[in-house]
Amino acid sequence: MSKRLRVELGERSYSIVAGEGLLATAGSYLKEIGIKSSQRLFVITDEQVAPLYLQLVRDALSNEGYQVDAAIVPAGERAKSMSVYEQVMTEAIEAGLDRKSVIIALGGGVVGDLAGFVAATYMRGIPFIQMPTTLLAHDSSVGGKVAINHPLGKNLIGAFHQPLLVLYDIGTLRTLPKREIAAGYAEVVKHGLISDEAFVAWLERNVGSLKKLETEVTAEAIMRGCAVKANVVAEDETEQGLRAILNLGHTFGHAFEALSSYSAINHGEAISIGMGLAADVSVRLGLTSEEVPVRTRNLLQAFDLPVEWPHALSPADVLEVMKRDKKGLAGKLVLVLPREIGKVEVVREVAESLVLEVMSDLQRGEG
Ligand code: NAD
Ligand code: GLY
Repeated sequence: MSKRLRVELGERSYSIVAGEGLLATAGSYLKEIGIKSSQRLFVITDEQVAPLYLQLVRDALSNEGYQVDAAIVPAGERAKSMSVYEQVMTEAIEAGLDRKSVIIALGGGVVGDLAGFVAATYMRGIPFIQMPTTLLAHDSSVGGKVAINHPLGKNLIGAFHQPLLVLYDIGTLRTLPKREIAAGYAEVVKHGLISDEAFVAWLERNVGSLKKLETEVTAEAIMRGCAVKANVVAEDETEQGLRAILNLGHTFGHAFEALSSYSAINHGEAISIGMGLAADVSVRLGLTSEEVPVRTRNLLQAFDLPVEWPHALSPADVLEVMKRDKKGLAGKLVLVLPREIGKVEVVREVAESLVLEVMSDLQRGEG
């Protein structure tokens, strides 16, 4: 049984199809959206996902008459680098891809962002398909933001490039390490916090079953999260306004990731700490009540996510990186802050001194 959701973007509209076992018949979904067997396919995946699912996908595509090549990149955030990007481009050129070829991202958000950026730039842009294999990728595979990192900041080199299809085999989540399951729930919680108190309350009631990845509740969490994202993206594809709310906790989080050289702390963990801090800033500005940071952190902790200060980092260094984050306009801090559970606001010109104070308090354990 699969569930479907449409991302409505005019001629760039596409479907998210989610269900158990979809990768085994991946070729039929490509046929359904009109990809011809004369179009070459190039799967980009990572070294942890490849042994689990690459052969399955190759077979499913070959069975429908497609010619398939693949590139395997290192696992983890470090693959979103200029050197890996160059290597994959070289392999794509050597494989003889042309402007009709289709890139397939098979993996988590890292592979999706990297493969999407390869697709956005190969011969000025070729189509791509997302086949997410992490829980976090219910977010990253939807919406068309694709990017690689620069040592000075996260996602600073990127594009908007929508996929033709998101084919989400949720059976793949069963091989995910526990830490990655928790990371995925950080983005699910974010989708609740930005839009829907009832979704947050539902998550609070179902934490136990969700952590065990029980099929029905997990599929519901994923589809509700995807629906929040799809609706925001449909209204503001290129982040002229509303879409910025999807960055709750991200300006803090991106700085933690950049300062830990994209390794000690993963994206979900980084934004978990960041969402708590955003709530603290909001209380300090008098925009929300004390209940908001407490409820936010309780839920994140229930999903085994960190909410403490990452002690290896200094608040002053974090602030410096935050100022460079692409969301900052003219050196001012623009932050997404909660007004209540299920409602956020983009607040411009948040004083840097206040943000520094809030971070220092959390570091001292007074957050
Ligand atoms: P990831 O892609 O690194 O995956 C996490 C780890 O799990 C990796 O080691 C990977 O090899 C492994 N893995 C993946 N699928 C597996 C499976 N089914 N079984 C076993 N292991 C598996 O990380 P992620 O958390 O999926 O994505 C994080 C990235 O997503 C960050 O770079 C973040 O910036 C990006 N992101 C992008 C958007 C967007 O809109 N483009 C949104 C949110 C996050
Ligand atoms: N993750 C932020 C966005 O997709 O806009």
